[in-house]
Amino acid sequence: MAVLKTDYETIVAQIKAFGEDEPHFVPFFSNISAILWQNMEDLNWAGFYLVTKEDDLVLGPFQGKVACIHIAKGKGVCGTAFEKKEQVLVKNVHDFAGHIACDEASLSEVVTPIFDKEGNIRAVLDIDSPSLERFSKEDGEGLCKICKAISECTDWRLQ
Ligand code: SME
Repeated sequence: MAVLKTDYETIVAQIKAFGEDEPHFVPFFSNISAILWQNMEDLNWAGFYLVTKEDDLVLGPFQGKVACIHIAKGKGVCGTAFEKKEQVLVKNVHDFAGHIACDEASLSEVVTPIFDKEGNIRAVLDIDSPSLERFSKEDGEGLCKICKAISECTDWRLQ
């Protein structure tokens, strides 16, 4: 299986360039979804779920097919990453009990938490691939760097 290399350093630089003077997180996250979609190979979904006041997840900006709007804490890969406040990297989604298949084509997935400057979890970044074992340890580390950059850039201003 070919190992796909992603230039996470360039992606982080692009994200910081968009985020450094943009207080509104929805357009910022929309552009991040597009940057990931354009710079990571072999994806079928890339986007965000946002933490709500009800302590569950609601769909945020994304690229890919239509997706479920609400995910409860602890449910699916996203809800698990939210509950554990740590990255969940899945080599084969069919081996993950309770995986939520918004797109039947998804075979592997990596979900990374995003925190605010006070350390509260505010969102997760969900990346799906139609290939098994698409995401390596290096991809996980790169996506953690991306989510750290996002945390540093945004003040979570909605309007
Ligand atoms: N697969 C995710 C659900 C979100 S769709 O992939 C966009 C999960 O199991 O939480």
